[in-house]
Amino acid sequence: MKAIINLDQLVTCIHTTSKAKRGPEMNDVGVISNGAIIIDDGFIRGVGSTYSLQKTIDKIPKENIIDGRGKIVIPGFVDSHTHAIFAGTREKEFAMRLQGKPYMEILLAGGGILNSRKTLMESSDKEIIEQTRARFDRMIAFGTTSVEVKSGYGLSTEQEIRSLELLKVLSESHVIDVQKTFLGAHAVPPEYKDSKSDYVSLVCNEMIPIIASKKLAKYCDVFCEKGVFNVNDTERIFETAIANGLELRLHSDEIESLGGTELACALGARSVDHLIAITNNGLKALEKCETIANLLPGTSYSLMKSYAPAREMINRGIALSLSTDCNPGSCYTESMPMIISLACLNMKLTPAEALNAATFNGACSLGIQDRVGSLEMGKEADLLLLDMQSYEAIPYHFGINPVLKTMKYGKWID
Ligand code: NIG
Ligand code: FE
Repeated sequence: MKAIINLDQLVTCIHTTSKAKRGPEMNDVGVISNGAIIIDDGFIRGVGSTYSLQKTIDKIPKENIIDGRGKIVIPGFVDSHTHAIFAGTREKEFAMRLQGKPYMEILLAGGGILNSRKTLMESSDKEIIEQTRARFDRMIAFGTTSVEVKSGYGLSTEQEIRSLELLKVLSESHVIDVQKTFLGAHAVPPEYKDSKSDYVSLVCNEMIPIIASKKLAKYCDVFCEKGVFNVNDTERIFETAIANGLELRLHSDEIESLGGTELACALGARSVDHLIAITNNGLKALEKCETIANLLPGTSYSLMKSYAPAREMINRGIALSLSTDCNPGSCYTESMPMIISLACLNMKLTPAEALNAATFNGACSLGIQDRVGSLEMGKEADLLLLDMQSYEAIPYHFGINPVLKTMKYGKWID
């Protein structure tokens, strides 16, 4: 048994139901002053004030107790949208974007995602694993204990399966909890430039059945965007995904709105992601369903674009989560504290709303909220010890790493 006691704040992010927080609920992070948390065998065994847990604390050997004075504990971050398995980086394109070249123009000229596809194909398994492992290590250091990772730089049956198999190898050997998503429809490969529907057929008839039968992914995602996959393509892929037992997530309204959000809501997607260009119809659809709006303010920052209308979403009672989008093109960061800061400063979320969106609601969007995402009795002990006195300091003191120690499943990670 171990414990952390005398914390300035124990921030539980606890919710009364296992549904995502919405509206005013997003402002409640469940702060316990002079808090303590007791952990045994990977699980949380006690949550409360140090005073209320004193009897149990007295039975724990002194060397297993951390004095948390001047510090806080929060749940581990759940980063529910990343493309973290890739090879090489694209800083040359970043420099071009700084000169004014649009992201989509780079992609449609054969760069962008297609550039990363080439590098992935030319890289060995060992290179891909080593580079991705380094990203997972950085995520753990910055407090992410559960992460969703998408394929999507393979864009052929062989390379998409290879990416997901490498991800499986990595997830079995790394402490971070990985949730896998198949994103074969991330870009149209050049060999299908004039026959996009044949590529969609390949995704539906070959990739999805194999990936589902090998259980290589839990989710299916599509990049629904002008010049990439339209709403009809998305519907074909999603119907196949559902028939094969995959759940849905969608890149939607990132640059232009095509109606993907409405489709995803109608089909019961777990999340719709980006939503910078969401329309009133999209907002109306989200209002009426359980689909979570997964916002990625790091992408707006890195693409130098506007931000999703987060305040309006919260006012309309739409559930929000926050993620990094960690990828080599539109947003290269592993830092959830940075994302929380951007969400507060540029989308006007309160620190409490942003923290709930980065923990409990992220877990809801991945369907893992019964295990992780908040600090409550019986849940897995995924938590962060932060060098600050209040959770409001997370967005306030930006550009640093506030995480002193990350605990995953009851163990401190060095
Ligand atoms: O979420 N938009 C599509 N996918 C990623 C970017 C991937 C890349 O550029 O490599 C995104 O922004
Ligand atoms: Fe993305």
